[in-house]
Amino acid sequence: MMEYRGRHYRTVWWEDGALKMIDQTLLPFTFTVAVSSSCRDTARHIRRMTVRGAPAIGAAGAYGMVQAFMEGKPEEGETALRATRPTARDLFAGIDRVKKAAGEASPRDRASAALAAAEEFAAHSAEECRLIGEQGAPLIGDGSTVLTHCNAGWLACVDWGTALAPVYRAHREGKRIFVLVDETRPRCQGGKLTAWELSGEGIPHAVIPDTAAGFYMRRGKVDMVITGADRIAFNGDTANKIGTLQVAVCAQRFGIPFYIAAPWATFDPECTSGSEIPIEERDPEEVTRMAGRDETGRLVSVRVCNPDSRAENPAFDVTPAELVTGYITPAGVITAADIPRVVPR
Ligand code: MRU
Repeated sequence: MMEYRGRHYRTVWWEDGALKMIDQTLLPFTFTVAVSSSCRDTARHIRRMTVRGAPAIGAAGAYGMVQAFMEGKPEEGETALRATRPTARDLFAGIDRVKKAAGEASPRDRASAALAAAEEFAAHSAEECRLIGEQGAPLIGDGSTVLTHCNAGWLACVDWGTALAPVYRAHREGKRIFVLVDETRPRCQGGKLTAWELSGEGIPHAVIPDTAAGFYMRRGKVDMVITGADRIAFNGDTANKIGTLQVAVCAQRFGIPFYIAAPWATFDPECTSGSEIPIEERDPEEVTRMAGRDETGRLVSVRVCNPDSRAENPAFDVTPAELVTGYITPAGVITAADIPRVVPR
């Protein structure tokens, strides 16, 4: 279980009839809990990435559907939630799970059945991430350096994390681990969120520019790569944060094992290969501007690109299965060939 200042938090949870979430747009500078009291507001929070990371988006989507049922507008709510972020499979798994449970209940019990299903979905997701930690920890040798991209820690999930769960587990078992954290432009989930999590856990790490991953690999400074996933096609092709593909290509070039860690909801039986995975395009301003804290403590956003130039901002890329050494799942480490046989449908 992950803690902040001695208190256990989930990234997203239901309390006092509202959805609460750690505001990830303000970390690592300010720890604030955002509250959403309507499905529409929850959809807005998912889109603006108050809550982000595939499993956390899945839980937020599930709770958003609860709000849609409570508001008596399930179709409208579902449409709004589905339109927020197209790549993370977990979002659709969360929405569908709540919709199914509500559909099986009587009209009078619909909202409470929806809430029970969302709570169950979130708890199950957290438990799967805990198991990913258990399954992945033995892969990490004492004294290893692990490179990771984006944030696939507890902030990206309901709890524990995916790529970072094995790191946390191995660290708690007493292994000495060093983490190279890709900064992860444009939104810097590595430099801001992964680095913040690792600091909280007391795990030695360094943030590196995304462009430095190959440099460290070539020098023999990386023992393994672990990243998360937003959607895994049934042939093993994996969508994850933009830049993951470059890391995987470099890892293969230098003979470094490249693992993907994910819960079952991230595997999509309806995608036979990566070419079917929808890729989210985000506001180019995320590329042309950067947000941070200045020396006076103020949070500011500054332009970092030539003002006359156009930018493009694909949020994810697809790593072909042949570059993936293994998938760390709640039931063990599997290969692409195992996916159709072992993934629950
Ligand atoms: O755009 P984000 O920050 O939601 O993207 C997150 C990632 O790409 C993560 O690596 C992925 O969701 C796996 S999280 C456990």
